[in-house]
Amino acid sequence: MAKRTLTGTTLDTIVSLAKRRGFVFQSSEIYGGLSSVWDYGPVGVELKRNVKDAWWKSMVRERDDVVGIDASILMHPDVWVASGHLDSFTDPLVECQECHRRFRQDQIEGDTCPDCGGAFGEPRQFNLMFKTFMGPVEDSSATVYLRPETAQAMFVNFENVQTSSRKKIPFGIAQIGKSFRNEITPGNFTFRTREFEQMEMEFFCEPGTDDDWHDYWMNFSMDWFKKFGIRGEKLMLRVHDADELPHYSKASADVEYEFPWGWGELETISNRTDFDLKAHAEKSGKDLSYFDDQKKERYVPFVVEPAMGADRSALAFLLDAYDEEGEGKDMRVVLRFHPDIAPFQVAVLPLSKKDTLSPTARRVYDLLLANFNAQYDDTQSIGRRYRRQDEIGTPLCVTVDFDTLDDDSVTIRNRDTMEQVRVPIDNLEAAIREQLNTMRADCQG
Ligand code: GAP
Repeated sequence: MAKRTLTGTTLDTIVSLAKRRGFVFQSSEIYGGLSSVWDYGPVGVELKRNVKDAWWKSMVRERDDVVGIDASILMHPDVWVASGHLDSFTDPLVECQECHRRFRQDQIEGDTCPDCGGAFGEPRQFNLMFKTFMGPVEDSSATVYLRPETAQAMFVNFENVQTSSRKKIPFGIAQIGKSFRNEITPGNFTFRTREFEQMEMEFFCEPGTDDDWHDYWMNFSMDWFKKFGIRGEKLMLRVHDADELPHYSKASADVEYEFPWGWGELETISNRTDFDLKAHAEKSGKDLSYFDDQKKERYVPFVVEPAMGADRSALAFLLDAYDEEGEGKDMRVVLRFHPDIAPFQVAVLPLSKKDTLSPTARRVYDLLLANFNAQYDDTQSIGRRYRRQDEIGTPLCVTVDFDTLDDDSVTIRNRDTMEQVRVPIDNLEAAIREQLNTMRADCQG
């Protein structure tokens, strides 16, 4: 595994690196920002896209028992009645009688306001779903909700997907998309926000096989994070106590990561039983049972759900990759991302901006662009450019120098070892693939 000297870093360090290098900016910053809302910059968008692509590849493209969908954020309001979200998707809210700040009751330690010491009013249940209106009339019959989870689209499309894809149980439906929750206390950078992206998969199975599938998907989830470089000692699987289970779940466990403020959830793997399909069948009047033609019996499938946050996972990858080497002005900040998670896999750095080098450097860049996510950087000194690429975690830098014009060779510099090797341009693609493969193997958490 790539050597990391640091066991932990502060969130402030990451927030400032994220802004400086174009990972994450505060939303609407020129207007003073919108609290707890974040925008991904040119580097961050690549990181988050890679996280989502890695998940989609492992979950959908590399398996023949999971298919994908991309459903709308707005759904029929009855979906949220049937799913229980309208009644039960609430947090207990208390308001200070003095300063009128509001808190989640289960997140405060004590009976008085942590800000001003004032007394709290009676707690009330606050529904986390955002409401809006569909069409030009703003009355209750036009109320629709921004989905608080992507999962419900998999349940209401169960029959459409099963019949059109001809999948037999057990099989899963996966989706990546935005969800919205009007969290009472968002915070910790992109960890808890009101708009976020989820990567969820509903795995439909025969009743009685659900416990085994729950075990299978818990192991799969832990392995997935390790495969893409999160250190094993920073991960744990925490089984929910009975009193914290979501309203739909028979058993749940969280994959947790050790964030700078403590352990926090990246993913929940739940055994949702037949709760959702039965609830939608009852509310819609549509039969959502399945005929098992091998067993010659009809049943309502049980569902096991791995539900992961894309933003939280991207944050965990960022924090876990952070490392510092050396001290003082010689200190090197390096993000030791797995090559499939790194925003860019390779950067092409011409030694000088001179016209004599640029055409060759551009030719090398074009060659690499076809196969890798590559960046071209010809500003500032070569040393500074290496540092910049280290700070965004680019595994390999390819330097084009004046000798290249004579020997048609370039230098590959490795992010982790800082070793440099000279290779002919003709062999460059193969040499890069080989180094990336070695780094992939080294990165396993
Ligand atoms: N369909 C089940 C479900 O939504 P969840 O545990 O509420 O389960 C799944 O959410 C994942 O979505 C969480 O593990 C987390 O990574 C992410 N998530 C949930 N709320 C979030 C928020 N307010 N901000 C960022 N990510 C969030």
